[in-house]
Amino acid sequence: MRVAATALIRPEVFRLGIIEAFCCAAVTVIITFGNSCHLSTLLHEEKAVHIDQLSVAELSTQRDIVLKQYNALKELNLALDLTRGKPCSEQVALSDALDGVLQGNYFTDSGTDVRNYGGLEGLAEARALFAKVLDTPAEETLVGGNSSLALMYNTIEFALTEGLSGSPSAWGNNDRVKFLCPTPGYDRHFAICEHLDIEMITVPMLDTGPDMDRVESLVKEDPLIKGLWCVPRFSNPTGGVYSDDTVERIARLGLIAGDHFVVMWDNAYAVHTLYDDASSVMPVRDVCHKHGTLDNLFQFGSTSKITFAGAGVAFMASSEKNLAGLKQHLAFQTIGPDKVNQLRHVRFLANPETLAKHMSAHAAIIRPRFECVLNTLEHELSNSGMGDWSSPRGGYFVSFNALPGLAKKVVKLAESIGVKLTPAGSTFPYNDDPQDTNIRLSPTFPHLEDVKAAINAFVICVKLASIEHCLRLKR
Ligand SMILES: Cc1ncc(COP(=O)(O)O)c(C=O)c1O
Repeated sequence: MRVAATALIRPEVFRLGIIEAFCCAAVTVIITFGNSCHLSTLLHEEKAVHIDQLSVAELSTQRDIVLKQYNALKELNLALDLTRGKPCSEQVALSDALDGVLQGNYFTDSGTDVRNYGGLEGLAEARALFAKVLDTPAEETLVGGNSSLALMYNTIEFALTEGLSGSPSAWGNNDRVKFLCPTPGYDRHFAICEHLDIEMITVPMLDTGPDMDRVESLVKEDPLIKGLWCVPRFSNPTGGVYSDDTVERIARLGLIAGDHFVVMWDNAYAVHTLYDDASSVMPVRDVCHKHGTLDNLFQFGSTSKITFAGAGVAFMASSEKNLAGLKQHLAFQTIGPDKVNQLRHVRFLANPETLAKHMSAHAAIIRPRFECVLNTLEHELSNSGMGDWSSPRGGYFVSFNALPGLAKKVVKLAESIGVKLTPAGSTFPYNDDPQDTNIRLSPTFPHLEDVKAAINAFVICVKLASIEHCLRLKR
């Protein structure tokens, strides 16, 4: 049973030079009896006032208002979670037809019985299908198990211990191995490096992709830099899409970097658009081919966020020479991938047109959650000087930058009222965000009304942390 109650927190009038802004805050509280409570909408009809322009008295007044709102939230015993970059149950249900799609026919068109061992490079039909996702020739594409992250780990471990071109080329022959990590970035990329004792050097992530001036100058001056992490389309967490110029310059890195340098091109969100007008990325394989740097490129993708997360199909692409070497390495781990699952995916996703339709169905489910987050941030925080954020056209995340020094505080404030956020710092190598600003928001998994409640609570936490911070500075 649900009860909706609207509580007017406090009408407030404050002066800002000659501008008079009427601030009226109302909280609509929807309490669900059962095991969870939701704060639904928090309305602020307030003209945006930049926090730096407020006097100490005005800041104190605002702090009291926001603190009341924060304490009201505490009373609700919220249990909300914006940490999980995973598909929601409606999304995974879009692929339930995978179960049974084979209808007892385990043979591919070319006659392979998928119930048996073999085929380390994946089914021909699966390689052809997923090559279209990566924009690569099928013969340069390998289809593996359920996790692209595992393929990335394997690739790096192979380059480190066995060498991309035989043992003299193993990165591990050097005293140190370093990777460039655009930040904010994906925590699990950084975890792989940390686990394998690869030193991470951060480079700023710009709207166009990694700061290529910085990347180029670093790889030119240090041959121990052996890799660059990339999430080219709808980056995790910024949602940015690499520009053509960035792709062109990344494709040329093999010409200026030390020996056996690799671009780890993790195209995890290659087809994960929220809007039809979302930008695409120039096909990096063709650009590398043009520059003769195909051996420096490893591309990855998976159906984790297309079909079933954890029970999908992962794929990768590189030069035929690199794939041949890597296959020898993989052969020590497995006699072959799960071809039954590969065939199920081939039958279910069929071709790029069917895949595109399927991804539109995903977008229809998660777009309202993204719009809820972005509209709330816009309504509550735009021009307030309390943070900025990305507005992705695809992918799984919104990246929020709090005022420097406040990300951890915001996450802690949210945690104390039952709203889990990704730990501050996790979008940086070694969990160290030197400015302590970045927070990754993941709106896909919770129900829309929980996303609403969570983002409204998040905004209150940002306001409270920012106002208290400003007060401390001004006093
Ligand atoms: C950029 C990126 N790469 C890879 C993955 C995981 O991929 P997989 O499930 O194929 O291992 C994720 C999951 O969040 C991701 O965001």
